[in-house]
Amino acid sequence: MLSRRRLFHVGLGAAVASCASLEKQSFGAGDRLQNPHPSLTASATAGFTSLAQVAARKNILYGAASDYAMLSSDAAFAAEYLENCAALVPENGLKWRALRPSPEQFDFTKSDWLFNFAETHNLAMRGHALVWHLSMPGWFKETVNRRNAESSLVRHIEAVAGRYAGKVHSWDVVNEAIEIPDGRSDGLRNTPWLEFLGEDYIDLSFRVAEQADPTALRVYNDYGLQYDTTSHNAKRGAALNLLERMQAKGTPIQAFGIQSHLRASETRFNAEKLRRFLRDIASMGLKILITELDVSDQGLPADLEDRDRRVADAYRAYLDVVLDEPAVIAVLTWGLSDRYTWLAEFKPREDGLPVRPLPLDENLERKLAWGAIAQAFDQAPAR
Ligand code: G3I
Repeated sequence: MLSRRRLFHVGLGAAVASCASLEKQSFGAGDRLQNPHPSLTASATAGFTSLAQVAARKNILYGAASDYAMLSSDAAFAAEYLENCAALVPENGLKWRALRPSPEQFDFTKSDWLFNFAETHNLAMRGHALVWHLSMPGWFKETVNRRNAESSLVRHIEAVAGRYAGKVHSWDVVNEAIEIPDGRSDGLRNTPWLEFLGEDYIDLSFRVAEQADPTALRVYNDYGLQYDTTSHNAKRGAALNLLERMQAKGTPIQAFGIQSHLRASETRFNAEKLRRFLRDIASMGLKILITELDVSDQGLPADLEDRDRRVADAYRAYLDVVLDEPAVIAVLTWGLSDRYTWLAEFKPREDGLPVRPLPLDENLERKLAWGAIAQAFDQAPAR
């Protein structure tokens, strides 16, 4: 096991403490999933040492998204990270915007640091993401066109996946290519890649990724798939259709990543529909990764204990369903501590209180969510 002491020996800098003050305000209780485990209490965190260790007992890989900025400067955070994680997911550090200062250049300074960090601490590396319509550099729009799109795509995948060949557990080769509201019969999102190269840009990306790094598991990753809503139901159908089309063409896809940005206030959850979806994917011979898992507390009452309990309940209810599927090999939360979460910026609470979507709070203390995740791993069937 990696101890905190060992972490300090790698020379990380001083901790950056960030303590947000929490005010109590009264808000109406939002709807939520029923708590299937009313016995979950603060003692739920007792008896477990590390999320990764509990998960590993069932042969499940647990890790969390983070990045150079926090891992290199916040020693206390990095220590907790190493205590809990067996896999590192660069939240932004492997995106085009991070790696491509210009059409001709690649800047691997920070991504190399992350790979070294992972190697030093024996963490599996997730690659996120080779092809995505967002987080593109400013020059992309002016530079890439129908004529050079294919060479631009191929060059990027060859350079990035090739540089880290043999060091990546799994690559999100294509991210978020489905968008039903765009109105296409195949459900695909209108992106520059689709406009310039047609649907085959997806297959091309997987083929080039396979050549560049044959050992990384090749993943298609998308969001909006877990609830029993019109849009999620339609997206699950479109995702299965896409996977079938890819397999019919012999595209070398090996796994499906289900981004799991949950909402604690969401009640429209149908376990059977989700189970069937996972089974359908598994029956195609694909592995499944639970990627980008977090639980938004937007719309929940301000009361801290109540809020944390509902967030924990949502983690537990969701993980109990997905971990029943043996094809699920990994669970990756989208962050580890509330100190660093995209939701603070992208989905803040209306009352202005700090959001609390992750296993550790902003002071790196274990929350009920940590215990709920640990218990879900502990009680998951082994795979
Ligand atoms: O790095 C710059 C920094 O130099 C600058 O000072 C600052 C000013 O706002 O911006 C920083 O970049 C931001 C970056 O996050 C790092 O914090 C970008 O503006 C911001 O757009 C970027 O947001 C990320 C977003 O993807 C877009 O790439 C989020 O952190 C990240 O959590 C989010 O992750 C996505 C997944 O990749 C795909 N699935 C959905 C998920 C959530 O949106």
